[in-house]
Amino acid sequence: MVWLGFTADQVARASACALAVSMLASVAGEGRAQPPPAGTAAPVVSYASQGWSAADRDTFYTTSQGSHMMPYAWFKALRRLDVDAPFAADQLQRYGYLRNDGRGNPGGLPVGFVVDGNAPSSQVGMTCAACHTGQLEYQKDGVTHALRLDGAPASADFQQFLTDLTAASRVTLAEPDRFAAFAKAVLGAGSTPAKVAQLKIDFGAWVKQFGDFMDASLPTLPWGPGRLDAFGMIFNRVAARDLGVSDNFKLADAPVSYPFLWNAPRQDHTQWNGGVANGLYIQGIARNTGEVFGVFADFAPRILVPGTVHTPTVIRYKANSADFAGLQTLEEKIATLTPPPWPRDIFGLDDQLAAKGKVLFDANCGACHAEKTSPNLVHAWMTPVKAVGTDPKMALNAERVSDPGLYNGALLPPPAIGARFKSPAQTSDILADSVVGSLLDEAFIPPVITPARLAQSGVWRAIRKDLSDLLPNEKLDDLFGLRLDATADLRALIKARLGNLFHKPATADAGAAYESRVLHGIWATAPYLHNGSVPNLWELLTPAKQRQSSFMVGSRLFDPKNVGYVTDQSPLTNGTFVTDPKNANGNGNGGHEYGTDLAEGDRWAIIEYLKTL
Ligand code: HEC
Ligand code: HEC
Repeated sequence: MVWLGFTADQVARASACALAVSMLASVAGEGRAQPPPAGTAAPVVSYASQGWSAADRDTFYTTSQGSHMMPYAWFKALRRLDVDAPFAADQLQRYGYLRNDGRGNPGGLPVGFVVDGNAPSSQVGMTCAACHTGQLEYQKDGVTHALRLDGAPASADFQQFLTDLTAASRVTLAEPDRFAAFAKAVLGAGSTPAKVAQLKIDFGAWVKQFGDFMDASLPTLPWGPGRLDAFGMIFNRVAARDLGVSDNFKLADAPVSYPFLWNAPRQDHTQWNGGVANGLYIQGIARNTGEVFGVFADFAPRILVPGTVHTPTVIRYKANSADFAGLQTLEEKIATLTPPPWPRDIFGLDDQLAAKGKVLFDANCGACHAEKTSPNLVHAWMTPVKAVGTDPKMALNAERVSDPGLYNGALLPPPAIGARFKSPAQTSDILADSVVGSLLDEAFIPPVITPARLAQSGVWRAIRKDLSDLLPNEKLDDLFGLRLDATADLRALIKARLGNLFHKPATADAGAAYESRVLHGIWATAPYLHNGSVPNLWELLTPAKQRQSSFMVGSRLFDPKNVGYVTDQSPLTNGTFVTDPKNANGNGNGGHEYGTDLAEGDRWAIIEYLKTL
């Protein structure tokens, strides 16, 4: 495909290069402390220096991506079952979510919980920050201090939150007194018996679909703090719920650790199994669209033109609540986020030991984790996808197949040409088709493409950003909007960049292979490995058989020696992580035995070096 004389690859390379330059030019952030809110025992929060202003942070914490978990009026009216209080009055801190004392949060929601749309039909949902914001705590002079780590893994227990939300909703529906109080809070002064009856019907329908979804998805061995089976939940949402094929449900029983985000724009692959080619904004928005479909976005694909022997089924993907402009805004924030520097003033650092560690790291770890330029995208880093003997369950589950339902007979996603969906299909293809179809429908289906619309639309902003640095003198609005052949080129370009979406790359090792990434800021991202089965860096450099078989997760108290969080306490319900000695049920802590036979002093040296990255 040739686009204005450039091949798709040349376009891609130049724009990735520009992206990298803009990242390198990002400014250092401020380490401003914020006083604790009056009347709470919250620790004093300061912010790691990561290139963000307070305004950037507020944007990241509160920009909607179109997630529709529950009508906001209902969420506010819902009460806890264990104590008599509104469900979210504690900003969900009992599940490990972080309080948000920033601006742009009138509802007093936790970090990453946002309201989408306007009353009365507004919905509460989650955005990136709920899952991708961390915080470490330490004691100094008898006072607890907290360091906020933007883009770091959350320690939240998402499954317990979903379980309790479901239970509270079910009981509210079933118990007349509770329902009466709920209806009064939702309907206020304008309440009438007819409105109460209608609310009961609407709330009942919501409780049924939400509850059925959770019953079919949540495993009996809970994910625990800091983990979520993202692929499992997304597949269930799209292939089972949105396509209306209940046989496609499978337990989401391969929870993974929340990955960190500050390297994401520079990796040539993301996702633990390397399933998303990365480095361009169009790839970022595709990845994020898949995510928001999993995190409660509405999505109702339908058949536009039924297929025949000669023509494929045509699907319309337009009916979805994804906020593409919000998704793009959020991705642009990530592009300026830098890794948090090791807090040397608090925890100290031995520079000589770190220098020794660098030599050992280059020799023992560099083959997989070194910063190497990607052959696909100049100035993006290679992120090899390697089988290193870690728990295979996540990678295996990602290969699952499903009945494609109404996609039967529609064209398979790129790079397939002409081939159609038939049952069973790769579930990752069902998801990829849903994402690529939604992006193309968003970009090319009227309301007509006007310059104003181009400026607003997230998909167009992604494409424009990928191209504008390469073609600085072109009037992109003219090119994009008004020339039919340009539109065709652009469609092809998008498809070319989104081939094999959600599949591990062709260059990946066979078997259960995971991303082996550049380790900038890795000190701030415990627990380690895709399934969070190794609590700290010292344990990772310990032979697998000697790693802790059981430990506590969910505490934010930092352990600067072993580099991770303390493992002898957890404030959360399901805080005990029991590893699987067979290394297979999703909780295995085997594999990745690199550097484990080095002398103890050498291993500490590598850890000292990792702090400096
Ligand atoms: C409900 C929690 C949740 C939300 C909300 C969420 N993510 Fe994630 N994210 C995850 C999990 C879990 C993974 C790992 C999935 C996997 O690879 O199996 C992930 C993976 C990623 C990755 C891949 C990182 C890597 O190195 O492989 C990126 C980038 C990312 N998310 C960005 C975002 C952005 C941007 C948003 C918002 C638009 C977002 N996420 C919203 C939980 C979440
Ligand atoms: C053969 C390739 C290879 C070598 C050599 C290697 N690693 Fe890894 N590393 C990986 C892969 C693949 C993963 C992801 C495994 C998983 O998540 O299951 C990983 C994961 C990690 C992680 C966890 C990343 C995270 O986000 O949780 C750390 C830390 C790490 N490696 C450090 C090291 C160190 C230190 C060395 C050298 C002593 C080393 N690795 C050697 C391939 C390698």
